[in-house]
Amino acid sequence: MYIENEAFKHYRLSSIMVIFGGTGDLTHRKLMPALYNLVYDQLLPEHFAIVSIGRKDMGLEQYRNEVFSSINKYSRNKIDETYWARLKELIYYLQIDFTDQSEYSKLKVFLENIDIKVQTQGNRVFYLAVAPEFFETIVQGLHKSDLAESKGTPWKRLVIEKPFGKDLVTARKLNNKLIEVFKENSIYRIDHYLGKEMIQNIMVLRFCNSVFESLWNNKFIDNIQIFLNEKDGVGTRGGYYESSGAMRDMVQNHIIQILSLVAMEPPVNLKTDAIRTEKLKVIQAIEEFTPELLRDNVVFGQYGKGVIDGTTVKAYREEEKVPENSRTETFVALKLHINNFRWAGTPFYIRTGKRLGAKSAEIVVQFKSLPKILYFKDQNVQEPNLLIIRIQPNVGVFFQFNTKDFSTYHDIFATKMETSYNSPTLGNTPEAYERLIFDVLRGDATLFSRWDEVEASWIFADRIIEFKYREQKRFNYPNYEAGTMGPVKAFELLARDGREWWNNIGG
Ligand SMILES: NC(=O)c1ccc[n+]([C@@H]2O[C@H](COP(=O)([O-])OP(=O)(O)OC[C@H]3O[C@@H](n4cnc5c(N)ncnc54)[C@H](OP(=O)(O)O)[C@@H]3O)[C@@H](O)[C@H]2O)c1
Repeated sequence: MYIENEAFKHYRLSSIMVIFGGTGDLTHRKLMPALYNLVYDQLLPEHFAIVSIGRKDMGLEQYRNEVFSSINKYSRNKIDETYWARLKELIYYLQIDFTDQSEYSKLKVFLENIDIKVQTQGNRVFYLAVAPEFFETIVQGLHKSDLAESKGTPWKRLVIEKPFGKDLVTARKLNNKLIEVFKENSIYRIDHYLGKEMIQNIMVLRFCNSVFESLWNNKFIDNIQIFLNEKDGVGTRGGYYESSGAMRDMVQNHIIQILSLVAMEPPVNLKTDAIRTEKLKVIQAIEEFTPELLRDNVVFGQYGKGVIDGTTVKAYREEEKVPENSRTETFVALKLHINNFRWAGTPFYIRTGKRLGAKSAEIVVQFKSLPKILYFKDQNVQEPNLLIIRIQPNVGVFFQFNTKDFSTYHDIFATKMETSYNSPTLGNTPEAYERLIFDVLRGDATLFSRWDEVEASWIFADRIIEFKYREQKRFNYPNYEAGTMGPVKAFELLARDGREWWNNIGG
């Protein structure tokens, strides 16, 4: 018999998770492996079922076999027969065309039968793992067939994948459609970065360590850098990327979410809305980009061909489904200020790009250096204190501080202290989707974006995206070689301030 993890038994988790897009890439690469690992860690409830929806004509056994192969390929835990047997019996497959309203009655009956069989009590998670153009259609389909109605119990929750709109106007339009059917607190807008271990650790590091929190302001911090560097190109997703670019794909969502956690004030408590309210204030306090600031503080880039790890890779304009004169940015670097008492005067530098020479997602906090009165008089370089939160691929915290070099009389040496959460003794860290699915099931929306945060992020991002379209002739693409760390102008952005990007420190 399957045993629920005791610690979570009191949550009312019994439910059916309905995955629209059950045959798609996201379901196979992320959702099913995450569900398997939740079974592995005994975090799924006893009364639970997964209904995958797709158009493909296939039987339940074939579908389960395909899921087995995906888990085998992508799961962080190896397949164990006992846990797979448990997951397998939870999975159902239903072939319907979700653009056809008449098909929803079939879905309704299908779910009601599972309710009886598995005692899932009418609770539902509707997970939309489909292209964004279908979000509205599916929500309307659920509404018209009375599948979404809820007065609290049984509960109905909606999970929406990114992108949430392509600008403020489309995001507002989509949101208006969603809230006609689901209440704001039943809508879970996924930003999978928020499910990553070290993103959740930002608040713990800040609010559980007096040594950091007491220094966490413009008096002691020289600058903060946030970078999400990728080695990968766009692969087969050129079509999607053409309508997105780095600003929409990475900055509007992941980077702004990380920035708000790094810069927010302590919330009054750890409840969802208290945290989201503090995050929102940060986004609203970002200094407005005037035309001069846009020209001086924003750098766009697009990769040309180059060499990564010894292999020649093609230019963005040569990728599948990308026009040869594409003006889509695959790189953004920018400097911004947060105009509040804590941060005024401390710059935040942001960088994200594809086909860079390193794959790393990190937050680097550079503390101010001390005056060179006692030490460093003869040494030109004084290494600053650096706190680095490593998000991926390394997961951990790095701290750099100065000590005396044992081998000389007076030299100072920058000691590098590193913690790694990927050590064999600790086991591998859970995937973001594990945590996020678990939170949806227990009704905790803290790691999902509230509508007003999404809205404020679009207001910020749109201003920069509009500038890009207005002045795109100025950008001479391609302007960085694959395998480098981006356009020369991105380095100049910091050099102008007497600073540099902290790449691969200690890593
Ligand atoms: N893939 C990723 O790593 C990733 C990462 C982050 C976010 N996302 C987001 O997640 C969403 C899904 O992406 P994906 O890459 O998984 O897409 P995908 O591989 O193209 O899958 C699309 C799914 O939708 C189903 N579908 C399409 N039209 C249908 C219809 N009329 N009726 C029933 N089913 C229909 C397809 O079923 P059939 O195949 O049976 O036709 C398939 O299961 C997108 O919003 C994407 O932006 C994806």
